[in-house]
Amino acid sequence: MKKDIIIAIDGHSSTGKSTLAKEIAKALNYIYIDTGAMYRAVAYYALQNNLISDQHFDKAQLIKDLDQIHIDFKYNKDKGFAEVYLNGQNIEKEIRQMTVSNFVSEIAAVPEVREKLVAQQRKIGQSKGIVMDGRDIGSVVFPEAELKVFMTASPEVRAKRRFLELLDQNEDVSYKAVLENVQKRDKIDSERSTSPLIKTEDAIIIDNSNLTRIQQFEKLLNLAKKKLKS
Ligand code: DC
Repeated sequence: MKKDIIIAIDGHSSTGKSTLAKEIAKALNYIYIDTGAMYRAVAYYALQNNLISDQHFDKAQLIKDLDQIHIDFKYNKDKGFAEVYLNGQNIEKEIRQMTVSNFVSEIAAVPEVREKLVAQQRKIGQSKGIVMDGRDIGSVVFPEAELKVFMTASPEVRAKRRFLELLDQNEDVSYKAVLENVQKRDKIDSERSTSPLIKTEDAIIIDNSNLTRIQQFEKLLNLAKKKLKS
């Protein structure tokens, strides 16, 4: 009988976690959940409701509003993965914009936001057969996950990848701004007091600075197959 497992993929921003997680989920016929998209959805809500800007952050109001923030995933057959919805609206595209990237770390540092999203993530993953990527999946959401991976690459390599992605989406940004955003997010993600980004002892490091997509995929698929056999 096939035994389903939980695959937790954590690591720095722009390391290609989502791409790899999606590919592995497809190969194993597992559900893929992008938890970063959930934090981005809350950041998008905060921006839309003028709760956050360069000058202010109305954290108290955001916490009050949490009951009205409903995040769902719906599978898009054409794209082959589940897209994120905020209160019924598909916001998959909007949450990738630089404005959201600029504020999402601050939003993700709010303990009440994390509590809500972690509870939802645990519910989604309770029947296993899931690949979840984020920052605290192996450490907080599913410390009992059978396979944990920690992905990293140099900030410059990551900024270059992200910059090319944004150019592709016709965003008017400079490489310097993207590199600064990557470095700022690393700092906030690793230094925040609630669920900081850490590599757990049992996580396997994949540094993909010099790995192709196929090499990473094969490495992770082999790890998953071993776990499924054991
Ligand atoms: O993976 P991403 O870049 O889309 O994540 C967006 C932000 O959300 C990033 O700053 C880190 C944060 N995040 C988090 O704190 N915990 C997670 N499980 C996923 C993302």
